[in-house]
Amino acid sequence: ATNGAGAGAGAGEDSRTVTVRVPAKVNVQLAVGGIRPDGFHGLANVFLAVSLYDEVSATPAATPRLTVSGADAGQVPLDDSNLAVRAARALATHHGLGESDPVHLHLSKDIPVAGGMAGGSADAAGALLACDALWNTRTSHDELLALCAELGSDVPFSLLGGAALGRGRGELLTPLEVGGTFHWVFAVADGGLSTPAVYGECDRLREASGGGATVADVGEPEPAPALLDALRTGDATALAAALAPHGGGSSSNDLQSAALSLRPSLAATLHAGTAAGALAALVSGSGPTCAFLTKDADSAETVAAALLASGTCRTARRATGPAPGATVVG
Ligand code: C5P
Repeated sequence: ATNGAGAGAGAGEDSRTVTVRVPAKVNVQLAVGGIRPDGFHGLANVFLAVSLYDEVSATPAATPRLTVSGADAGQVPLDDSNLAVRAARALATHHGLGESDPVHLHLSKDIPVAGGMAGGSADAAGALLACDALWNTRTSHDELLALCAELGSDVPFSLLGGAALGRGRGELLTPLEVGGTFHWVFAVADGGLSTPAVYGECDRLREASGGGATVADVGEPEPAPALLDALRTGDATALAAALAPHGGGSSSNDLQSAALSLRPSLAATLHAGTAAGALAALVSGSGPTCAFLTKDADSAETVAAALLASGTCRTARRATGPAPGATVVG
């Protein structure tokens, strides 16, 4: 599937193309604090990059344009709301280039769209890096991270990759050591969920249960020490225990109950994966993608096949983490 007029290089475009590969992420912990005065939620966000990738290409063009290919291409906005377009523009403005160097951005999408795996953030980080290489603007790593943070809370992590603790609204990153490779399966749902809607539902559920939703009534979010230990030692069984710390439906992802409230059918998806032998199941970020941690590559294959056969998801994808951050590949 292709979205946008003519996915290839258009008339008048030269052949200098820079291509950047950017990973998806899963939040192994998403501790959500209260609403801040700026409307964002304070977070303790433990990101893990996984080996599902989008590729972002930038080619000089007569006028700016955006094209998208991949199974979900039709769901990606082509207007100025697209984060990749905004990223290219932000970099041009940062270097005082104005509209002088128009580019054709092409997104080759493999990350689920609006799936809670930071696909839009990946495209923004990819566009920044691709345009920086194309324009030879040599932006420092810290400046790139600052530009990423302006574009969205998850964009700095898409640039960095690996694993990291995100504080603030998720943009203040501390890289984390990971002592092994974790094997995951991702159950992709039909249709996405809106991130603001899921945060809003989280606040609504908290208020309804009498907990309140502002910074004053919700405590400071903290990463779980056992979860950080499990990442450091690369111990999948220990990580699984930290993902679902009290068994049953409990989750290290504070947005999980909100995603389930908006999309009750996800409960069956989570159950299908655990019934097939996954060590732990949780909603990825704001969902609706569900993430399953498995013992090894063989178990991931079994769980993916069972999820597909269960009819509780559109598709099931295997991936490993940690994966490298945004990288120029051509
Ligand atoms: O930063 P980003 O644009 O990705 O955030 C999208 C939306 O998600 C925000 O407008 C806000 O509604 C919600 N959000 C939040 N707290 C965060 C991050 C995101 O409430 N820390």
